[in-house]
Amino acid sequence: CRVVVLISGSGTNLQSIIDAAADSDAPFEVSAVVSNKPEAFGLTRASKAGIETAVVNHRDYLDREGFDTALIETIDRHDPELVVLAGFMRILTPGFVRHYSGRLLNIHPSLLPKYQGLHTHRRALEAGDREHGATVHFVTEELDGGPPIVQAVVPIESDDTPDTLAKRVQVQEHIIYPMAVQWFAEGRLSMNGDRAELDGHPL
Ligand code: GRF
Repeated sequence: CRVVVLISGSGTNLQSIIDAAADSDAPFEVSAVVSNKPEAFGLTRASKAGIETAVVNHRDYLDREGFDTALIETIDRHDPELVVLAGFMRILTPGFVRHYSGRLLNIHPSLLPKYQGLHTHRRALEAGDREHGATVHFVTEELDGGPPIVQAVVPIESDDTPDTLAKRVQVQEHIIYPMAVQWFAEGRLSMNGDRAELDGHPL
């Protein structure tokens, strides 16, 4: 299964997927990594792993449509079966999302449907929550609203800061994201309407 990964930053989730793909019997490979930021450290991670990289800088485009069209062109050169958003910090147009419908995944650092959008760790702390986590989901036109696939839950400690909490959540992200990619590559995971299905059973 050919996978293209989209990033904007550090790329620790990308790294977890690269590492999983390096397993000799992994059913997927990272064909390319595309960033909207030229300075994203994830590009260095990709190059180190011998993976092709591309930058599509949103600042070079007048509007979201122009940017997304260029992004689709760049991605589709690699003919991927799956497109994975890993810390990709741009909102995508409905046209983009439709183009990859059922084969576009994202990871969001909260227990969706809680805390869609930004600053999730701070918001979970401010709300006095006792648990927090991350969710892998199919991407639909609703921001952070597509069908959930797998969640990881972590406890919130009384002395947590947004940073300590983010670190605890990220350890789990690096486990559940490669797992979801693996399921997809094995043909076990699909999107059926507003539900994700694993082995034909709704999640
Ligand atoms: C992760 O916390 C992910 O949940 C969110 O952005 C962050 C990306 O981190 N969408 P990294 O670039 O994978 O290190």
